[in-house]
Amino acid sequence: MSKPALRVLLSEKQIQERILELGAQIDADYPEGPIYLIAILKGACFFLADLARALKHQARLDFIGISSYGKGKSSSGEVKLTKDLDLSIEGAHVLVVEDIVDSGVTLTYLMHVLAQRKPRTLKIAALLDKPERRVKPVAVSYVGFQIPDEFVVGYGLDYAEDYRNLRDVCVLEGST
Ligand code: PRP
Repeated sequence: MSKPALRVLLSEKQIQERILELGAQIDADYPEGPIYLIAILKGACFFLADLARALKHQARLDFIGISSYGKGKSSSGEVKLTKDLDLSIEGAHVLVVEDIVDSGVTLTYLMHVLAQRKPRTLKIAALLDKPERRVKPVAVSYVGFQIPDEFVVGYGLDYAEDYRNLRDVCVLEGST
């Protein structure tokens, strides 16, 4: 079996420059006070770290875990919470930080769960968006890059838990 090849889709430089732009846009959009950045484990951890530091706003960080079943194969929307937030978000400006929006199943579920906790505002920032794959419509306020429907790894994204620590986002070729 040949080793999968990596082709750089988005370089570290492109990613970091875009995150600075997103940070400036978010700073301009939000009123004074803390923004609660909520990252979805595990893929969003690097985007959270870089986006938080791109902001001039005070940022509070929290993490949520979600697992989905039949992902990529079914659109059943069967999702469950595996790790809840530590912080209360009632009355807070909440920005969900996600690495990639694919079918939209994960975010549809999460936005429903978070909205019930009465945040003051609730929006989404996603580094990557694969619009061709969408099954459930999701309103993403801040998108880093729209990408084609190719299997990508790096900058948090994995293939069987590998490649998350690559600095670039790469297409994994020959993995199937
Ligand atoms: C990936 C990604 C998103 C979700 C997007 O997470 O990080 O959370 O899938 O897919 P969707 O739009 O089709 O729901 P994954 O479940 O692979 O977990 P991971 O972040 O721990 O790798």
